Amino acid sequence: MRRSDWLFLFVLVLTVAAVAGALYFSETEAERARRLETGTTQTAEGPSIGGPFTLVDQNGTTVTENDLLGKWTVIYFGYTFCPDVCPITLTNMGDAIDSLGATGARVVPIFITVDPKRDTVEALQEYAQHFHPRMRFLTGSEEDVARAAKAYRVYRSVRAADGEQSYLVDHTSIVYVMGPDGKFVASMNHATSAEEMARRLRRFL
Ligand code: NI
Repeated sequence: MRRSDWLFLFVLVLTVAAVAGALYFSETEAERARRLETGTTQTAEGPSIGGPFTLVDQNGTTVTENDLLGKWTVIYFGYTFCPDVCPITLTNMGDAIDSLGATGARVVPIFITVDPKRDTVEALQEYAQHFHPRMRFLTGSEEDVARAAKAYRVYRSVRAADGEQSYLVDHTSIVYVMGPDGKFVASMNHATSAEEMARRLRRFL
C-alpha cells in the first residue's frame, strides 16, 4: 500500500471507531431510560430520587421522610380528581401488598397529591376509604408539595382555565419503591398489574 492508502485506512478505522462508540453510548442512554421505565434500575446506579419533605396525612398527622426510615414504601404521586389512572394505580398497589400476605405488611403504600389546592386533609380522608386501609395520603401547602414533587422528580401541570374547579392535572405516573434506608430501589408505573407489582416487590423483601 502507498502512504496515502495507509492514511486513508487509518482515518477510516478512526471514523468507524468513533461511530461505533457513539452508537454504543446512545444505546446505553436508551437502555438506562428503558430500565428506569420498567423498574429494573437498582440503587447503586439509580438516579437520585427522593429527599426531604414535610407533609400531612389524611388524619392530620405530620409525615416527613424520617418517619419512613426502616420501612419499605411504595410511593405514588397523583390527585383525587384523577378520573382513571390514579385510582387504578392505587388499587393495584393495595392489591399487590395484600397478595404478599405477611411480607406485604412490611410495605407502606403512600399517595402524595400533586393537587394540594383541592386535595385537603378532609378530601384525602374521604378518598382514602376507597383504598388500602394502611395507605397514607399526603398533602400540604403548595410549597411543601412542590418540594416533595421535586425531590421525586415528579412533573405536574394543571390544565385549567382560571377559576375552573373541575380541572385535570397532567402528572408523572410512576410508583417508586423506596428501601428502608429511604433510597430509591425501583420504579413501576400505572401499567404495572397488581400481580407484577407483587412479583417485583417480593424480590426486594
Ligand atoms: Ni392521575
